[in-house]
This record gives sequence, C-alpha cells and structure tokens, in this order.
Amino acid sequence: MCGIVGYVGNKDVLSVLLVGLERLSYRGYDSAGIATLAQGELFVRKEVGKLRTLGAALEGKPVRGELGLGHTRWATHGAPSQENSHPHTDCSGRIAMVHNGIIENYHELRQQLMREGHIFKSDTDTEVMVHLLERYLTPELNFLDALRRTLKDVRGSYAVAIISEMLPGSIFVARQGSPLVVGLGADENFVASDVAAMVGHTRDIVYMEDGEMAAITKQAVVFYNVAGEELIKQPQVVEWDTTQIDKGDYDYYMAKEIFEQPTVARSVLSRKLGPGGLINLGDLGHFSKADLSKVTRIIIQACGTSWHAGLVAKYWFEKYTRTYTEVDISSEFRYRSAILDPSTLVMAITQSGETADTLAGIREAKSKFLPVLSICNVEKSSIARESDGVIFTEAGPEIGVASTKAYTSQLLAIYLLTLYLAQVKWTLSPEEVQTKINDLKTIPGKMEIVLAQNDQVKRIAQRFAHSRDYIYIGRGFDYPTALEGALKMKEISYIHATGYPAGELKHGPIALIDEEMPVVCIATKGYWYEKMLSNIQEVKARKGMIIALGTEGDDNLARLADEVIWIPPVAEDLAPLLTALPLQLLAYHTAIKLGCDVDQPRNLAKSVTVE
Ligand code: F6R
Repeated sequence: MCGIVGYVGNKDVLSVLLVGLERLSYRGYDSAGIATLAQGELFVRKEVGKLRTLGAALEGKPVRGELGLGHTRWATHGAPSQENSHPHTDCSGRIAMVHNGIIENYHELRQQLMREGHIFKSDTDTEVMVHLLERYLTPELNFLDALRRTLKDVRGSYAVAIISEMLPGSIFVARQGSPLVVGLGADENFVASDVAAMVGHTRDIVYMEDGEMAAITKQAVVFYNVAGEELIKQPQVVEWDTTQIDKGDYDYYMAKEIFEQPTVARSVLSRKLGPGGLINLGDLGHFSKADLSKVTRIIIQACGTSWHAGLVAKYWFEKYTRTYTEVDISSEFRYRSAILDPSTLVMAITQSGETADTLAGIREAKSKFLPVLSICNVEKSSIARESDGVIFTEAGPEIGVASTKAYTSQLLAIYLLTLYLAQVKWTLSPEEVQTKINDLKTIPGKMEIVLAQNDQVKRIAQRFAHSRDYIYIGRGFDYPTALEGALKMKEISYIHATGYPAGELKHGPIALIDEEMPVVCIATKGYWYEKMLSNIQEVKARKGMIIALGTEGDDNLARLADEVIWIPPVAEDLAPLLTALPLQLLAYHTAIKLGCDVDQPRNLAKSVTVE
C-alpha cells in the first residue's frame, strides 16, 4: 500500500509534504519519512509510527528544502522499523527514493547487487531499486535512461518518486500498477498517490498510466513512455471541497462519516431519482438497456465491507430481477477460473477503486472479453477508469479506515441498480417500482431517527466493552448486516467478533455461547422474523447476553433482549440501509471506550493496493 507525495515550488516544502502525508495516511501508517534537497544537499528523516511522530521530530530539528518527497508506509517487506522506513537511499547517500507497490524479484536482484558491492541498509524490496539506479547512473547514461534501465530489471508494481543531488531541481517519477497523479501549478508542481494530497494547491491533475515516467521541475512536467519518448498528456480539472476532508466538530473522521449518512443518502437520491420512476445511474458506458435486459447471471467481486454490500445485492437482484447472482471475494475470484459466459454480468464493488484484488478481478474478466460494471466511490480511480461502466456512489471522501458512509451509499446505488434492472427486464411492474422508490425516499429521515439513539448505543457499547468476543446473527436481508457489524467491531476495537446466518448457529457456533458472550441479534420485521425469534430463544436458553436490533414497537423482542436498539418501521428489503448504522456506532463507542485509534486501527490501511 503506502502513500507517496512530492513537491517542487516556492511554498514551505516541509509543510506541503506533511499535509500531503496526513491526507495519504489512509494508505498506511506504520512509519513516515521525507527527503528534501536544499542547495544541492540531500536530507532524509524518517520515524516509525504515525505521522505525528515524524512531525514532532521535525519540529525539534527541522530540515531545509527547495523540493522534496514524502512517504507513509504500510509494511510489506520488512517490519515497521527505522531502517525499513522510506525514503531509501543508495550507497553514496545522494539518491533518495519513495515507493508504493511490491518488487517481486527483489530477492535475486538484491543478491546480485550485494555481490557487486552494494551495501543494503533495510529488508525492503524498494531498496533494490535505488541501488539499481545507482548502478546505472554512469557518465554515459542520463538520469532518465538510468531509471528506464532500472525499471526494466524489476518485476512487480510500483509508483516511485526519486530525487538526487546530481539533478537537484527535479523529481523523477514512474508508474506501473500503483496509482500516481501529477498536479500542475504556477511555478510549482506536485506528485502523489492520490489527489487528496494536493487539495488546496491545484485542481489541474494529470493521471499517469502504467509504463509512464515523468521529470518534474518547478517550471514544467515532461512525461515519457517506456521507450523514453515524450508524451503529451492533458490535465483534467478535479473538483474538490476542503470541508469534505476536515473533521468538522467531530473527534474522529469515523464519527463524522457515520453522522453524514442521512445527508449523503438524501443527496444521492435527489441526484439519481427523477420524476415518474426515472432512475438515473449516470453514464453506464458500455451497458445499454438492451445489454442489461439479456443478463442472466451476475458475478459480483469485492473485498471486505464492499463484499458485504455484494451479499445484500444478491438478495435484491435475485428477488426483484430474478437474476442468478454469485458474490465472490476478489482474492478468490481472480484465481478460481470462474465460468464467465457472455450472458454473465461481472460487477466490482469498491469504495477506493484501488483495491488490488478487485482490480485484478476486473482484469481477469476483461481478459475473457467480458465488460465490467463497477460501483465505485472515487472518480478517476484505477477501477473506475478500467471498468466499462461505473455507478458512482457519491459519498464524498471517506477518510476513517473503517468504511461507514461508503457502505450505505454502495447499498443505495445497488438498490437503484436493482430497480433499474427490474425495469429493463420487466420483473417488477411500474407500480411496484414506484412503491419501492417511495419507500426509498424515506430512508434519509429514518437514518436520522436511528442516529438519534447514539447515547443509548454508547451506553450499551460501554457495558460490553470488556467482552472478549462478540457474535452477530441475522437472517435474510439482516445476515450481511451481521457480517458487517462484526467486521466493524473487530477492525476498530480489536475484540474478536464473528457474524453468522442465524440458522447456522446450531451447526457449531452455539457452542461458544455462555453468560459472558454478547450476541447481537438483528431481527427486523419481515419474512424471516419468526425464525429469527426462535434463534434468539436458543441463545437465551444458553444464557447469552442479547443485544437486539429490531423494529420499533416490537414488544416480543424487547422482552427477550438484555438491551435493544430500534430502527423505525421500514420495508423489509430496505432494513440493511438502517441496521448498519447502530452497529457502526456500537463498534465506534466500544473502540473509544477501549482507547483505540478508530480512524487508524493497527495493521490496517484504507486502500489495499497490494494483494
Ligand atoms: C472495512 C473496510 C474494508 C474495505 C475493503 C475493500 O471497514 O473498509 O474491508 O471495505 O478493504 O475496499 P474497497 O471498497 O476500497 O475496495
């Protein structure tokens, strides 16, 4: 994973790099480092741990810089340590490099370079690249040619940025498989893994493609292809709004993003719904109504929370569009030789649009000549750009590592797609579609009602915060919510939590239940309700502590439960859009009570750009 940023210009280099790194911390936060050049001299500083450690170290002992690079790391090769932190330098200490990606043949290259006398200081794969560059920087080869030779020798993925004392006014960059964007300014230029690092500085962005390199100076950016030929690339104007990347009045991005959900839902529905049952999913690219009406099978591939959104989609697609739907985890899909025929619609669901396995899944489908329709939050992301059609979820930037508003906005997009497919396939009548749209429009207001129980959820979270484990159960539409609730709990509070379809409990997991086990039972009113009540009885009979999540006014449920959280009455298929919210709050307040950093939980990164 990792995030990289580079700047050359007249602003305070250190502060541009540190703010950029802060915005890229979602890509990893095991360590952070910077390299600057001032009057031809290279300075490198790096610290293990979150960015604030580096910030504090630099405050005590600042460095000068006319240009520089920054890096925030999610450790792949080599533990998080000072030596393994980026930037990495060559033997002479005159070249510094930051890297996002994985060099697969690093081991053999390292052995070879060591035999040639290169001294390695870290265990990373990255360091081989900087030594290779050093090897090729002979009087006969200029910097770019040496970089091209270096890139030819490595196998894997990279976005790299390099500065050196030999060419003190330039940043050199190259991309293969990891994102890299260049920001153009007046007498200043930027490079980063993501435009977020440049917000507030420029809106003119050039997206680099695989196999491209660039030389960036204060006055110009020159792009090259693998053959070293100059390329003309047009900048795109990117819209952003700085309030979206501020915490506002909240202590954590996660809290802000949880409470933003009604606003996001309202804005998505107002943009995507028109009069008379009109559903506007945006530009579906390759996918005409005629194509979609012929789809007989859907394969969804996604990871983590986005995979849970895919599980909800299966219930909706099969019930309302009568289309057989499979939901695969991308890291399985990409390797499992799935049967893909022309009537199969392959879908990807992703917040970031950069998840390596999901991207590979898309490429796998496309290699079999199948177009891919994606549900994605980030415009211009790799997945958005490589898909044949995209429905944007329009949730705005999600910065907290745990996905919250991105999840419910994925559900909204998928529900609208379900209705759209039902229209083109005539599996629902216009009246049925209209009724569902009317129900959907009540969701933002109902989300507000759910969030108003924040204090109640906080109290419950505090009561059970010292539990060793948590179990979440649900049936039907509530089953994926059980998985999602458990994922939220474990990723930010580090309490072990597992979600099950409630009917599976007695096939094994019920053995775990005793008087110390909180069991979150999602039991909204609908088709599965009675059966779910029986499962709750089974938990109660084994003395499990029942935290029920049900439909307001359900006295039976209230009687069974030790604690209860309500959602307002809602059409049963829309319950996942409401039930997710109190479970996000439950995880959030538990993590806060336990003193965890909810926005940057240990070992995680928001964007998983390595497989
Ligand atoms: C959990 C979470 C992750 C992501 C997963 C996929 O809260 O955020 O499980 O859902 O890494 O990421 P995207 O959706 O960006 O492909």
